[in-house]
Amino acid sequence: MKAEDNVFLIDHPLVQHKISMMRNKNTGTNEFRKLAEEVAVLMGYEAFRDLPVEMVDLETPLEKCQAPMITGKKLAVVPILRAGLGMVNGILTLVPSAKVGHIGLFRDHITHEPQEYYCKLPSPIQERTIAVLDPMLATGGSAVAAVDFIKARGGKNIKFLCIIAAPEGIERLHRTHPDVQIYCGCMDRCLNEDAYICPGLGDAGDRIFGTK
Ligand code: PRP
Ligand code: URA
Repeated sequence: MKAEDNVFLIDHPLVQHKISMMRNKNTGTNEFRKLAEEVAVLMGYEAFRDLPVEMVDLETPLEKCQAPMITGKKLAVVPILRAGLGMVNGILTLVPSAKVGHIGLFRDHITHEPQEYYCKLPSPIQERTIAVLDPMLATGGSAVAAVDFIKARGGKNIKFLCIIAAPEGIERLHRTHPDVQIYCGCMDRCLNEDAYICPGLGDAGDRIFGTK
């Protein structure tokens, strides 16, 4: 993993292999959904290296000791609808006690700017580490809007996890919210004229849910 200015590229072979399978246009909905969940597990493993732990008293079969445990109530997971839902179970596999919020955004087909239709976050959000999930970071408009909502409600410690990003999206999110840690499976070449990531994997929401 390389870290530069709060941008972390997860270049692990397992992540790369699974993302390549997701890119393949012949990968069907069922397999695509499983892969999105598996990539989320592997990305979460890296992204949550700094989760707070506390020493707890326990007894092994041999003796009493103190051992570190994650302070489990402290994580909030916030998928951006719809496609972010495909990563939620992967993160909950790692931290089952996390609270889950939802932010509903879709991109306007003409302007490519995000339109909000839903926002419900765990309350209070201030003290939590917040993992925002969206497989695709394209223009960065949706990610910036999601972080804006969370900060407006008091959220501070925010990580953004995406499977594939365009350089434009990373640049916009990082420029607008430099405090947000961005975890990315692959940085692709560019956006096309419809603001799709190239080579990308197509429309992540459609591929996860089998819509068109
Ligand atoms: C996709 C994707 C992101 C957004 C990325 O969602 O899941 O949320 O586009 O693009 P951006 O970085 O240019 O904002 P979409 O709007 O297609 O909605 P969906 O998940 O409901 O299909
Ligand atoms: N949203 C997607 O689902 N895919 C892209 O390539 C860009 C935005």
